Order: sequence, then C-alpha cells, then structure tokens
Amino acid sequence: MSRTRHSHREEVGELPACYGMVVAGLEEIAAEEIRRDLGGEIRKITSGTVVFRAKAIDRRLLELRTVEDVFLLAWGTDQLTYRATDLDLIQRWTARNVDWGRLFKLHHALRPKPKSRPTYRLVAQMAGEHGYLRKHTRQALAKGLAGHLPASWPEAEENAFVEVWLSIHEATAICGLRLSDRTMRHRTWKLEHRAASLRPTVAAAMVRLTGIKPGEVLVDPMCGVGTIMAEIRCHADRFREQAVQVCGGDLEFAAARAAGLNLRRLGSPLVANWDARRLPLADQSVDAILSNPPFGKQLASPGEIGPLYRDMIREYDRVLKPGGRATLLVSDVRTLRDAVAEVGWQAQRTVNLRILGQAARISVWQKGWR
Ligand SMILES: C[S@@+](CC[C@H](N)C(=O)[O-])C[C@H]1O[C@@H](n2cnc3c(N)ncnc32)[C@H](O)[C@@H]1O
Repeated sequence: MSRTRHSHREEVGELPACYGMVVAGLEEIAAEEIRRDLGGEIRKITSGTVVFRAKAIDRRLLELRTVEDVFLLAWGTDQLTYRATDLDLIQRWTARNVDWGRLFKLHHALRPKPKSRPTYRLVAQMAGEHGYLRKHTRQALAKGLAGHLPASWPEAEENAFVEVWLSIHEATAICGLRLSDRTMRHRTWKLEHRAASLRPTVAAAMVRLTGIKPGEVLVDPMCGVGTIMAEIRCHADRFREQAVQVCGGDLEFAAARAAGLNLRRLGSPLVANWDARRLPLADQSVDAILSNPPFGKQLASPGEIGPLYRDMIREYDRVLKPGGRATLLVSDVRTLRDAVAEVGWQAQRTVNLRILGQAARISVWQKGWR
C-alpha cells in the first residue's frame, strides 16, 4: 500500500476507496463477498484488512456480513520504518493528504448527525514491535486532525458520531473514517450472549463456505446462542420464496433457550434441547451441517474431546444425505480429522483463523454419494 498520489488524492468525482476490517484469516472470503454481492473492486488485501472501491457509498456497505467494520480510506502505507520518525509522517499525512471535508460529507450522508451535540473518537491500534507506543501514535493522529474536526465537539470513549481509526500492523498502516457502528459486527438480533459464543462474521463466513442453496435442510446440532442459524437465516433471505429449513439444538437448556430468544427476532426458530450424538432426525435427511463444537479447553479434560468428536461425526454421517456437507469450526484439527477418517468424508476447503486468541480452522467436508 505505497503512498502514491493516485491512491490518496482522489480524482474529481471519483469516490474514495473503502476498507473493511475482518477477522484475520477471513480476508479472501470477505473479498469474495465484496466482489460478488456489492460489485466492489478489490484493491489490496493485508492481514485483517480488505481495501476496495465500491460503486456507491451507501447502506449496502453496512450490510456486508463477513466484515466487522467498514471505513472510508483516508490514507495508507506499507512503508513504516518502525522508528519514531513514523509519527511525524502519520501527523503530516493525516493533516495534509486527506480531503476530510469530503469524507465527512459522505459519512454524514450515511449516518446523519445526532440531535444532541456530535462527539468524536480517535482509535489507534498497533501490532508489531515499533519504537513508539500506541499513545504516541494516537497523539500524532490527533495533531494531524487538528482543525479538521469542529473544536466544539467533545471526545467520547465509545460509540461516537465520528470515529477516525488508525490501524498499524508491522510496516503497514491504514487510516480511515468509520462508517459502521457496533451493530455491524454484533448484529441487532444478538441480545442473548454466552461464553464461547461465535462472532457473527465468522458464522457468516461458514455459511458462505458451505454454499447453501434454496430449499435445503440445514442443521447446527451444537447451536449455543444460535449465531450460525441466524446467519443462515439472513443469507437465505435472498432466496425469497424457496426458503431453507434451519434447525438446531444444544445439550444445555440455557443455551437452547438463549438461541430461541435470539432467533425469535428473525422469525420462528426450530431450536431443541438435544444431544448432538443422538439427534432426533431421520437418516439421510439433512443437506448440510454447520457447527462449532466445543474446543478442548471448554471441556473438563482435553481427553473428552476425542470421544465427543467421534460420536458426533458418526451421528452427522447418519443424518446427512449422500453428498451432504459439514462445515465445522474447531481448534483440535487432528482430533476432528481422525474422527472424519472413520466415515470417509472428503475435505473440500479449509480456512485457518484465530478465535479468542486460539488457532482454529473452518473445514468443509463432503459425505460420499453412496
Ligand atoms: C463453542 S459452543 C457453540 C457456540 C455457538 N456457535 C454460538 O455462537 O453460540 C459449543 C456448544 O456445544 C454445546 N454442546 C456440547 N456438547 C454437546 C452435545 N453433546 N450435544 C449438543 N450440544 C453440545 C455446548 O453446550 C455449547 O453451547
């Protein structure tokens, strides 16, 4: 992302570039969503970030499901030096290389000013070993913005009207005006939470990787608070008349109840309190299973995970139709692979990511046709 005149000073009439922040590992899936669903043109992909040009700066940007947050690009570089001199450059680029007036105009068109006094917030994020601290980066950003934001606006801790973010990852920095608010990543339906509940954007990525089709029967046998089921529902809205059938359940009554409450906001849910090792479903009745079984650390002893995965996969193999798919997110990759080897499913695709600080993998499997 070298700082060229072309990438940071837009030609008259050309819309500024945007970028999405995504869970590291999901960049390609988010890029595919931006390309296919939004008609956007991908400009650059770095760890956790997808830079793109959209045809319009409108609400459709906020409807991307695999993206955590979306921004108007102010400036970017992949040539930080890790030395304190970076701070002068950050200040200078922020002060001089950005048409903030234009970015604010586009932002306000999408997010009208509140009735109360607007607030602003500056966010600096850093990953890597730099010769300066996050607070220094934030100060450089604040100095660069001096005079661009109304002096009467108070600063807010969170949920501000205007938020300028600067994210540094090793030698790469990207600075932008946040278009989304917290509802983009947390969704509006998700009011019931539990420990180990999945990020909706990761669930959305699992849905895209599965490639669900109209009329299919889709099950999350270990649904927790229903994140994957909700993302299936939202994705399937595009099928209109030919709705998919979605159901799920959980061994814990409290989880199944929470899923029921969350999903009620998206229509009538089919949620059961069941054991995924003994599903009340007919043989060969399910097109795809999408699920996030417990990671080893959530069970009393890591030794329990092998037998659980083995029993679960045997049961999933029973209920899946020939050629059915299973999209599973686990951290114990080898344990899952051993369990799957017993039923002979074929690996289709894998995506590595980090969940709650742990390495994890989404894998898509297909049951044989006979
Ligand atoms: C990692 S969590 C799933 C989180 C879920 N994707 C969400 O977003 O909330 C794993 C879930 O599996 C459930 N579980 C564990 N063993 C189970 C079993 N034998 N049958 C059904 N559910 C089970 C747990 O109660 C837990 O809610």
